[in-house]
Amino acid sequence: MSTDLRLAAGWISQSRSITVLTGAGVSAESGVPTFRGEKGLWRRHRPEELATPEAFQRNPELVWEWYRYRQVIVAGADPNAAHIALAEMERGRDRFSLITQNVDGLHRRAGSIEVVELHGNLFRARCPIDGYICELSAGEDDKAIPTCPDGHMMRPDIVWFGESLPIEAVRHAHESAVSCDLFLTIGTSAVVQPAASLPLLAKHSGARLIEVNPEETPITSQADISLSGPAAEIVPLLIEEA
Ligand code: OAD
Repeated sequence: MSTDLRLAAGWISQSRSITVLTGAGVSAESGVPTFRGEKGLWRRHRPEELATPEAFQRNPELVWEWYRYRQVIVAGADPNAAHIALAEMERGRDRFSLITQNVDGLHRRAGSIEVVELHGNLFRARCPIDGYICELSAGEDDKAIPTCPDGHMMRPDIVWFGESLPIEAVRHAHESAVSCDLFLTIGTSAVVQPAASLPLLAKHSGARLIEVNPEETPITSQADISLSGPAAEIVPLLIEEA
């Protein structure tokens, strides 16, 4: 075990208040594709055709087809060792926040209880007119677009490019970033705002910053410890040692 890993594990065990930010990389070893990078979804698909309000207005069938395709991938995936270790990290801690940009629901399936989903959830639909929300199961109704009880066409409950994040989730994320003494950023390219600013906000508020990612990101040079490697290998080690 490297010195950095041992040091990071020590910080975790000593910390009184931990905030974790995860991105698509934490689910990579569950077989859920990331967005950027060589095999990323945004290499093969154009976000402006699938993940904007304008795209939905133009072609709601295509947008729903894309989200159903992703639901099926996620429904066939299991939480990996990183999700499970993060659920374990939460247990027995009073002050622990898990903030995720992921829409796959794998943190909850791994047993995490308090999860702040900044970008929504793949398995929910929302009525853009009256705000009605319903749960979906994978590939549900095949091609039909869900409608609310008043008959309006519903949309995936996902934050699209150009849209604001849910206010309550942002407030919670901001508060837990400024008040923690240790911030872990795991598996995110840290390029999408406002999530990308949370690690730096925590650091500027006095927290130690640990990053887990096989690649360098804009956060790497700011991290107190940067652990290079897959989350499913590194995060369980952090717990074992802590
Ligand atoms: P990205 O696809 O931008 O970045 C994934 C990150 O995970 C990269 O930095 C990879 O190096 C890293 N990574 C890959 N495999 C990993 C592994 N096994 N263990 C740990 N890290 C690994 O995904 P996000 O940062 O989550 O928004 O992207 C942010 C947002 O952009 C997403 O929530 C999505 C997208 O557009 C919406 O859809 C609203």
